[in-house]
Amino acid sequence: MSDAALDPSLLVATSLTKSFCLGKNNTLEVLKGIDLTLNRGEIVALLGDSGSGKSTLIQILGTLDHPTSGSVTLDGIDLFKLNPKKQAVIRNQKIGFIYQFHRLLPEFTTLENVMMPLLIGRLDPKAAKEKAANILEQVGLKERMLHRPGQLSGGEQQRVAIARSIVTQPVLLLADEPTGNLDRRTAWSVFELLQKLNQDLGLTCLMVTHNNELAQHLNRQVHMIDGSLASQEDAGL
Ligand SMILES: Nc1ncnc2c1ncn2[C@@H]1O[C@H](COP(=O)(O)OP(=O)(O)OP(=O)(O)O)[C@@H](O)[C@H]1O
Ligand SMILES: [Mg+2]
Repeated sequence: MSDAALDPSLLVATSLTKSFCLGKNNTLEVLKGIDLTLNRGEIVALLGDSGSGKSTLIQILGTLDHPTSGSVTLDGIDLFKLNPKKQAVIRNQKIGFIYQFHRLLPEFTTLENVMMPLLIGRLDPKAAKEKAANILEQVGLKERMLHRPGQLSGGEQQRVAIARSIVTQPVLLLADEPTGNLDRRTAWSVFELLQKLNQDLGLTCLMVTHNNELAQHLNRQVHMIDGSLASQEDAGL
């Protein structure tokens, strides 16, 4: 086992800032010095008002955007010291993403959608098909493999998106309001699936949610207030 794998912290974000330039002399400071550590196997809720910077943070932690300053290490790898090509490899191998809207490819079947990240990672199609089918069975969609996204319910679509995000066996799952578009009952079932994956696979997960009730069931809650992370006491909990 490598030294990095023995370290209890999986992800360490240090002094992250992000500013958007909106024009001459007009800069919007969205992240104002974020320090965040996620330990291996943790499932953590990221809460905060609309516009406080949660999605911006998630995008940066997943290398889909870069910080203005600060660093992020994942499994001991300093992500923003890598070139974009290497970042893309790390994203494909180590990070899974889930969004409020499923972002499945409408012209492909459930099975093909879930195979996609494996094919991008150059796995042989037969092995990819087998793996994707296995994961779909795990998320309870064995009977829906040949449906297209438009033929699935909202909860099923989100389950497919979850299957797609974990099929590469990532170490980190970044979920941006994964239940935000679902009714209460369906939101709970998707939430329970994420909890199960966290417990069964030890998958480390950071989940943005506006749902306090769900958040209280996770290991820990962090609160974003106007671009900064507040302690639980500061957030009035
Ligand atoms: N590319 C961009 N250019 C300029 N401003 C941006 C950009 N992306 C985000 N912002 C601004 O950054 C702020 C934080 O946005 P972000 O999407 O991170 O908020 P959020 O906490 O995820 O909100 P919500 O709960 O509504 O999803 C917002 O004021 C937004 O307008
Ligand atoms: Mg957001």
